[in-house]
Amino acid sequence: MKLTALMSLLGLLLWTPWLQAQQMSSTQAESVDPEAIIKFRIQRFEEVEKTFKALRFEVVVNRSQDRYASYKMANTLADQVQPLLEAFRLRTDQQRFAGKTRARSEIWVHRDEFEEQMIDFIVRTERIAELLRAGNMSEAANLINVTAKGCKRCHRMFRSRW
Ligand code: HEC
Repeated sequence: MKLTALMSLLGLLLWTPWLQAQQMSSTQAESVDPEAIIKFRIQRFEEVEKTFKALRFEVVVNRSQDRYASYKMANTLADQVQPLLEAFRLRTDQQRFAGKTRARSEIWVHRDEFEEQMIDFIVRTERIAELLRAGNMSEAANLINVTAKGCKRCHRMFRSRW
């Protein structure tokens, strides 16, 4: 009985600073500068584009059989894509950030549609990495092509021409 009480006290002591840290980081997230978020996502998309092009070149154009090198690239891509959904949580209308962002307000008006496409994108990049790890090169190549269509589709709906 005594031991249990001691254990729960110990638990509380260990948890309290952790909980405070969690609360702090979520308050900080709310106060993040929208321009910094815009910069982050554009820069991240540029990195994604580079990795995606290199991966597509290896697997689709070159029909490379080096599954380890392709897997590593796909894994990098999956990691790079991962924070992109969160990067659109804060609404950044073009009227307010003219010339800084190509993100259309439709993203926040048709939130479900945007999220669905972004989640498809994230899930596909993970699946490409899995296929490559398993050495399933031709299925990976097909999924890379499907993913490329997804880039265009989302841009057509949610990215302005400037
Ligand atoms: C779910 C939607 C969505 C998907 C999928 C998507 N993008 Fe984008 N992308 C955007 C939006 C929105 C922006 C504009 C961001 C901003 O300006 O704040 C953007 C910006 C970019 C940029 C930054 C520079 C520019 O011209 O605006 C590049 C590069 C880019 N995307 C490439 C890609 C590539 C390559 C893929 C696929 C491998 C892809 N995107 C998939 C929505 C998407």
